[in-house]
Order: sequence, then C-alpha cells, then structure tokens
Amino acid sequence: MNVLLIGSGAREHALAWKLAQSPMLGRLFAAPGNPGIAQHAELVDVNPADHRGTVDFCLKHSVELIVIGPEAPLVDGLADNLRTMGFCVFGPNRIPAQLEGSKGFTKDLCRRHGIPTARYVRAGDLLAAEAALEDFGLPVVIKADGLAAGKGVIIAETAEEAQAALDTMFDGGFGAAGASVVIEQFLTGEEASFFAITDGAAVVPFGSAQDHKRVGDGDTGPNTGGMGAYSPASILTPELEERVMAEIVRPTVRALAEAGTPYSGVLYAGLMLTPDGPSLIEYNARFGDPECQVLMMRLESDLLELMYATARGELAELATPRFSNDAALTVVVAAKGYPATPQKGGGIDGLDEAAALGATIFHAGTARSKGTLVASGGRVLSVAARGGTVLDARRTAYAAVDAIDFPDGFCRRDIGWREVERLAP
Ligand code: AMP
Ligand code: GLY
Repeated sequence: MNVLLIGSGAREHALAWKLAQSPMLGRLFAAPGNPGIAQHAELVDVNPADHRGTVDFCLKHSVELIVIGPEAPLVDGLADNLRTMGFCVFGPNRIPAQLEGSKGFTKDLCRRHGIPTARYVRAGDLLAAEAALEDFGLPVVIKADGLAAGKGVIIAETAEEAQAALDTMFDGGFGAAGASVVIEQFLTGEEASFFAITDGAAVVPFGSAQDHKRVGDGDTGPNTGGMGAYSPASILTPELEERVMAEIVRPTVRALAEAGTPYSGVLYAGLMLTPDGPSLIEYNARFGDPECQVLMMRLESDLLELMYATARGELAELATPRFSNDAALTVVVAAKGYPATPQKGGGIDGLDEAAALGATIFHAGTARSKGTLVASGGRVLSVAARGGTVLDARRTAYAAVDAIDFPDGFCRRDIGWREVERLAP
C-alpha cells in the first residue's frame, strides 16, 4: 500500500520509521518531510494547504492512505476533502478536529456531557472577559480560543497579570486565536498525556507519556513545544487509565458520533491528575511531539495496519495495540535561542556514533546544506532510547546526546525527573 505522510517534525520521522517496518507498506511519500524522514520515505513537493494538489498527487501515485501528522491541516479540513475524494485518511475531519482547534468547543462539549474539566467561562470581548474574571480566584487560567502553537495559555498569579493577558488577547496579540477566550479555574496536580485511537465507534487506549514543556532544567523558563518525554507515565495507573477512558475519552467519542461528526484518528488527552481524579486540560487531534517518539519506540503492533483499519472504520476487528513493557525516553536537542530566536545553520555531526550507542535519532528542524547536516528550526533532533526502566532509557539517550557534535545546540539534562524520583525517591 502506498502512503502519504504529511508533516516535517520528529513526530513524523517517528511515524515514518514505524510505518517503514510494516510488511504492508509499498511506497512511502512524505510532504514536506526532512532529511531524517528521507531515510524511510520519498520526499515530495506537495503543499498540504493545497487540497486539490494533494488529491492530484494521491491519484497519480496510487496513494491509498494519507497520514496527517500536524494539527493545522486537520483544522483546515484537509481530511474532509481527501475523504470526499474516496481516500482513506488517518486524522479527523475539520469539525471533530475542533477539539484542538477551539478550546471553547471542547469545554462546551465537556459541560454538555459531564466530562471532568476545570470550571470555565467563554468570553468574546474584553468587557465580558473582565466581568467573568470576578467569578474566579487567583491564580486564574486565560486561554486564547484558537490554535496558538502552544503559546495561547497564560496562568495569571495576580489581577494585574490577568488584566494584561486579556488586554494582549483582545488587542490581537495572539492573532485570530485570541478573538475569543476561555477563562478557567486553576487546577493543581501532576500532568500526564494519554492517547487513544478511534474510528468514531471503537476506541482503544494507545499509551501514556509525560512531556517537559519548559525550556530549562527543573521546569523553568518559557514554554516550548516540548523538550523531552518518556513513556509510560506510571502515575497513570491501569485504574486511572480506565477512569480516563470511561469518564473522558469514550464520552467524547460518543458525543461527536451522536452529533454526526465522528472523530477518526488519534485523540491526545492532556490531563491533570487532581485529588478528585483525572480532569481534562486539553485535547489535541494528533500525536504529541515529542510524545509520539516514545510511543513509537514502544509500539510492537503494525502501525500501518492500525492506521488503515482506523481510517476504514474497522478498528473493532483488530487486536488491541501491543506495547513493550520497556520504558522509552527522548531528549529534544534544540538550537540555542529556542524558543524565542533559534540560531539556524549550525552544523551537526556524530549521528552515526550516537546511534551506535543504541539510540534512535529522529530529525525535526534539520536540513542538508552542501552535503552537511545543519539546523533549520527550533527543535532540531529528538534522541530516543528504550530500556528496562526509564533510568536505563535515559542513560542511553544522554550518552547518545553527548556523542552528537552540535555546538549550536542545547538540551535539558533532567528529562524524566519525575519518574526517576518515583523509582528512587
Ligand atoms: P494547554 O495548551 O491547554 O495544554 O495548556 C498549557 C499548559 O497550561 C498545560 O500543560 C498546563 O500546564 C497549564 N494549564 C492549562 N490549563 C490549566 C488549568 N486549568 N489549571 C492549571 N494549569 C493549566
Ligand atoms: N508536546 C505537546 C504537544 O505536542 O502538543
């Protein structure tokens, strides 16, 4: 089967790496891809914002399945147009992708269906938002409604910070994403990510992970797309996972199906494990990056078979996805200056030596320039490893990071610290 993979990050490299292991795979195309993805796929010049052009490419190259990695094309309705043309797609249509595209959409759905999430108010203008603030204590959480590349959430500790956040949002500081806001109660607890795959009817759990969003060691500094992750997150015990499935994920999938807009693809639930139980912080309509890398390191089932069955609405006929009992951990190597102003163009060497230590190196922002590999984005590499425990995986991953010659890069040195503390308090 020929497959087109949309995206260019380490998440898509991990997907390409896993898809390439499937005996069902014919040709794998990637648009736009990156030099790491090129080890497994043919990079093609298809612009996913051009739906007609994407359809034409798939017709011409007998593509049967399109796998959409990032959120923007999903929210933009690429899956709808491909499905209309008869293609199988892994990834939700435009309306169910609103679970990620609009925080207000998700909150309203949770309220209607009794899904645990922080108390909230939606506001479409500054006056309404200021009035709503009075219903909340401090700290208070203020979120731009739309897609804001992970930057649209402000936790205000003081009334002045809350006011400044609202002023910025309604002043266009977050573009169209901030034209409407969600104000919500601040929750306390530990965060974890939980994944499920669904074809709109059947829903299967697809593992857990913990990300590290802050740029600096000890969870300090500005938020990023994610500086490292590990899987599984042992804090999500089997009992808690079953609660998340029963109280959060299944009711969401059922609600969207009943509305006539079924969700098909992977559903990523960002959770706060509060003293009262798991509470939904946010949904994403795709795999997380870097969470995907650690899930793929542990996945033992055939990813292509799973994605194809999901896209065809035949998930119930497959065995539940199998994961290794091993732990996996990934360290993101970013370009100095990330997340504000990453320094591009720095040379990267030593990847073969790093891989020889037992790690798997996924590319994100890399490019080839005159035969050498250089940094071309903020997050540059995702260095992943497996091990009997998270400590073993971490040792291998950092040994590999240290073997990489990338003077313009940096990474956090404490990925997995919560799990390490749990293992050896
Ligand atoms: P989101 O983009 O909605 O995942 O929010 C980004 C981050 O903000 C989350 O990972 C949490 O760390 C934090 N956050 C969001 N909502 C809340 C909340 N209601 N209470 C506490 N922290 C939150
Ligand atoms: N790592 C967080 C995300 O992919 O949204």
